[in-house]
Amino acid sequence: MKKGLFITIEGPDGAGKTSIQKEAARILSEEGFHFELTREPGGIDIAEQIREIILNPKNTAMDARTEALLYAASRRQHLAEKVIPYLDKGINVLCDRFVDSSLAYQGYGRGIGVDQVFQMNQFAIQDTMPDLTLFMMLEPEIGLERINRNRAPGDVDRLDMEKIDFHKKVYEAYCDIAKKYPSRIEVIDASKCFEEVLENTVSAIRKYLKKLVNTIDK
Ligand code: TMP
Repeated sequence: MKKGLFITIEGPDGAGKTSIQKEAARILSEEGFHFELTREPGGIDIAEQIREIILNPKNTAMDARTEALLYAASRRQHLAEKVIPYLDKGINVLCDRFVDSSLAYQGYGRGIGVDQVFQMNQFAIQDTMPDLTLFMMLEPEIGLERINRNRAPGDVDRLDMEKIDFHKKVYEAYCDIAKKYPSRIEVIDASKCFEEVLENTVSAIRKYLKKLVNTIDK
């Protein structure tokens, strides 16, 4: 049975993933490639409820492993209830964040260990990995500056409250992960203007789709 494509967008906070996701999907849809948009943590009611617990700024006592498990739990529910059923119906999915976020934020940022977090996530994902991942590469200082500039007063989540050192670790981890999986991960320079980032993102997806068509034709 034909499966849909599973494409994820990753990157540090403030890299502009959400706007790029929406606009890229709009352009691709005009070219005949429809993508369902979704996000992690969340994307479906139970997973959105877990998101609220994870990101609630009051939950400062949350243990790093509890945090990693909650992200994995929300991921599991989102996959089981939404992503896998779409893919099984042949519908393409463009998801804002997936397991690479846990590797970068919990594995490296929180210091749990990338391999351990990946192993723990196997229980949740059962080998479902993205066909393609677009990594919005942006230095954390610039990302945080963008967030602070655009944020409404009082709109701070628990992860936003982390110090710059945490975000630097997350950024380094993403760079390492991108080097480790070069055939799956396309790096996009997110420091460029919005139009350029959008064009490069759409081109990377088009390139992947073209490669896929050529493989099927052979
Ligand atoms: P968002 O702001 O991109 O919606 O993501 C919410 C926050 O959750 C963001 O700071 C990144 C963080 N996060 C993790 O730490 N681990 C994960 O597995 C995911 C999916 C997100």
